[in-house]
Amino acid sequence: MNGEEPSLNVNLAGLKLANPMMTASGTCGYCFEYADLLDLSRLGAFVTKTITAKPRKGNEAYRIVETRGGMLNAIGLANVGLEVFLKEKLPQLRQLRASGPRIIVNIAGHDANEFAELATHVSAEDDIDAIELNVSCPNVAGGLDFGTNPDLLEPLVAKVRQSITPNINLIVKLSPNVGDICQTARAAINGGANILSMINTYTALTVDVYHRRPRLANGTGGLSGPAIRPLAVYLVNRVYQNVARQANVPIIAMGGIQYWQDAAEFILAGASALAVGTGLFINPATPTNISDQLVSWLSKLGYNHLEQAVGSLQMPTAATDTHSQ
Ligand SMILES: Cc1cc2nc3c(=O)[nH]c(=O)nc-3n(C[C@H](O)[C@H](O)[C@H](O)COP(=O)(O)O)c2cc1C
Repeated sequence: MNGEEPSLNVNLAGLKLANPMMTASGTCGYCFEYADLLDLSRLGAFVTKTITAKPRKGNEAYRIVETRGGMLNAIGLANVGLEVFLKEKLPQLRQLRASGPRIIVNIAGHDANEFAELATHVSAEDDIDAIELNVSCPNVAGGLDFGTNPDLLEPLVAKVRQSITPNINLIVKLSPNVGDICQTARAAINGGANILSMINTYTALTVDVYHRRPRLANGTGGLSGPAIRPLAVYLVNRVYQNVARQANVPIIAMGGIQYWQDAAEFILAGASALAVGTGLFINPATPTNISDQLVSWLSKLGYNHLEQAVGSLQMPTAATDTHSQ
């Protein structure tokens, strides 16, 4: 250390961020909805709600319920659709970008052609730094098909990659609802993703015990928040160790990040950047608070750059996935 504060600058395969903190898709609207509660200009990147080709109303209420340590949602990808997004929301995002944060647009289609068409339209716009493919939504029919099947995922990602301008970053958001997440991570990279984000929510169920029905109108939903954090840290570390490090593909991690220690766990496990979702509902300033606190953590470790901490977790050599009891 040379007495200067450690740097939080991040270079995600060419996508340069002032710091590693982002919003997680679907939890912060399209941008300025949170402007009074969070200094958006201090984010490393802003990630939009999933955009689909046509507007979607989403599922019936209740579509969010609290569970102990978490939140279950079945929003159903309610969003304004591509046309309104480009016309009304993108100008606001451009304004935000001018103040610092990079802009990541999250998209989802019904099939590979629709994904590719959406990606073409979005990548044709100036000021969009990356497209994130939501292939992992548990709350719409078929939402998980691509994200759980490597044989479908790789050609989908390849098709999208071919449909977008080469300079735009392509992020694939991985689902935890799979047997071996390394297989879908590999498929995403083989298809042309240059960044991975993980994880989307876990499919889950919570029950109204008096009415003997699910608490969500949709039945099942996606579990997020502190309850999933250790599971997410484990998956990030698995993908980092077995796939991403060798391929030189950075990971954006999310899943229950609420305090700086949570972010630090993910960094040590292999994440280069971090997104906050459910944590925003508890304290909208969570991402900026974490940025500030990561600096003193890195200082205490004697690091002068965040990068030095990425993946530096010391796992015992005997640790295996299969001997947990
Ligand atoms: C209310 C809500 C809406 C979400 N909507 C989306 C979405 O539109 N697209 C998406 O890719 N992920 C969506 N997610 C998943 C989050 O981006 C994130 O992957 C997940 O919640 C785990 O992070 P967290 O525990 O910090 O919330 C949503 C999550 C919540 C809680």
